[in-house]
Amino acid sequence: MTHPLRLGVNIDHVATIRNARGGLHPDPMRALEIVEAAGGDGITVHLREDRRHIRDEDLTALMERVTLPINLEMAATEEMLEIALRHKPHAACIVPERREERTTEGGLDAAGQHNHLAPLVSRLNDACIRVSLFIEPDPRQIDAAIRLRAPVVELHTGKYAHSEGVAREAELRRLADAAALAAKNGIEPHAGHGLTFDNVQPIAAIPQIAELNIGHFLIGEAIFIGLDASIRQMRALMDEAR
Ligand code: PXP
Repeated sequence: MTHPLRLGVNIDHVATIRNARGGLHPDPMRALEIVEAAGGDGITVHLREDRRHIRDEDLTALMERVTLPINLEMAATEEMLEIALRHKPHAACIVPERREERTTEGGLDAAGQHNHLAPLVSRLNDACIRVSLFIEPDPRQIDAAIRLRAPVVELHTGKYAHSEGVAREAELRRLADAAALAAKNGIEPHAGHGLTFDNVQPIAAIPQIAELNIGHFLIGEAIFIGLDASIRQMRALMDEAR
């Protein structure tokens, strides 16, 4: 069953824990059945240039075994384009990537990088991979996504997640306005980054948003309550907010 507000579970940090010891445990592939049983609608992975979590062989195993749609987060490079075209995941989300950052710290400058992104987006579109651009909730960036013919934008919720009070309210309004603007122009809005049990509901309540991608919190919480319970609780909060 596909939910009206889909949950993409990012399993990168299962691999982060595995890689800490250089062995095979915990195997990110074990998460697949749990995600599906617990109400996840898709699997998200970010193959980073430095392969600090998911690696090439994980992506190969994932593509062989998975029954849910895969969303591959990727930097806008030739290397990643070639990997995406070879594996043909359901979706590819183009993210900015800097080697020294701890995580994807801001949105893609789709407006400033139009000429670099245009051939990449069109080659992914031609391969029937659903392209998404991970952008700040900024009308300039939505306009750029329209010009690039991206069918999806993922709105970066990091500023919302890391602010409080009035600043958080303002950021929530920016996200709601950006989602409405994208939808009005035929672009499907998604959202993600820094979402938790405590802050997910106002985002899940934005009616145009079709998918949330959530990783770090779900895997972190799994240490205490288990992965199945962690995903189920997120799913329930999202459904309640709709
Ligand atoms: N969406 C995108 C495009 C991301 O890059 C990330 C982080 O890898 C997420 C969602 C998930 O963020 P978090 O791990 O904070 O839930």
